[in-house]
Amino acid sequence: MSSPKSLSGKVALVTGGSKGIGRALSLRLASDGAKVVVNYSSDSSSAEETVKAIGSSHAIAIKADAGNVKEIGKLVDEAVKAFGKLDIVIACAGIMPLKELEGLSEEEFDRVMSVNVKGPLFLTQKAIPHMKEGGRIILFSTTLCAASTVTPNYLAYCTSKGAIEQMTRLLSKDLARKGIMVNAIAPGPTATDLFMKGKSEQVLKMIAGFNPQGRIGTPEEVADVAAFLAGEGGKWITGQVVRVNGGMA
Ligand SMILES: NC(=O)c1ccc[n+]([C@@H]2O[C@H](COP(=O)([O-])OP(=O)(O)OC[C@H]3O[C@@H](n4cnc5c(N)ncnc54)[C@H](OP(=O)(O)O)[C@@H]3O)[C@@H](O)[C@H]2O)c1
Repeated sequence: MSSPKSLSGKVALVTGGSKGIGRALSLRLASDGAKVVVNYSSDSSSAEETVKAIGSSHAIAIKADAGNVKEIGKLVDEAVKAFGKLDIVIACAGIMPLKELEGLSEEEFDRVMSVNVKGPLFLTQKAIPHMKEGGRIILFSTTLCAASTVTPNYLAYCTSKGAIEQMTRLLSKDLARKGIMVNAIAPGPTATDLFMKGKSEQVLKMIAGFNPQGRIGTPEEVADVAAFLAGEGGKWITGQVVRVNGGMA
């Protein structure tokens, strides 16, 4: 007889769950037994492909802008309608405009703060009424918040992720009353569209060289940590930022 999977009976919602790290999270949580709500904002074919890879009885794709509070409310309602509850909520969707101070517009700043900061906060607020004791919230920061090798064009992005690290600290205290654990994962450079886009082979090699392990991480290595935090092993961990970066910072 095969033993039950570690996340059997759990329901997970992953914003930006269709590509990159989010896709790896969706697949990993599903392979550990969870039903998964795969959120995306524009590319329905990638979302449908992720659902197909999991199996349509265990996953659903829901389109919603993870930076828009009204759409986040609808996302949570549709997720609960589909699977009845939420146990694991992961705010993975993120954007990374690369602009130095002089070139950064107010619109770009507002957008990055909406998707990377406002979205995760209100996703948590909307999800909590549907979560029980033992629930898990996982937010996403970046190792760049702790690295000295950061270039000035990460200004808005790192500002938004710094807010996530403080949000993690404060929400973990607030939601302790409900027995819900709140942590953040802060990956180092990880091979996804967000990171690779616009970087030459030479630049990628240079960034890999900053890492003591001499390489860039994989989305699956990040998903391993999320699966741990979401599972039994994470039941006494809250308010932490887990840097998943091969020792880069
Ligand atoms: N990759 C890295 O090196 C790295 C390092 C540190 C931290 N992180 C963080 O890890 C998280 C995931 O990054 P990634 O590299 O996997 O990104 P990615 O490859 O760009 O994937 C982004 C995912 O988010 C979705 N998405 C984008 N905007 C959205 C929105 N407004 N609403 C809902 N979904 C949205 C995309 O779907 P659509 O295309 O359909 O919109 C896609 O599924 C981010 O929070 C990022 O800041 C990444």
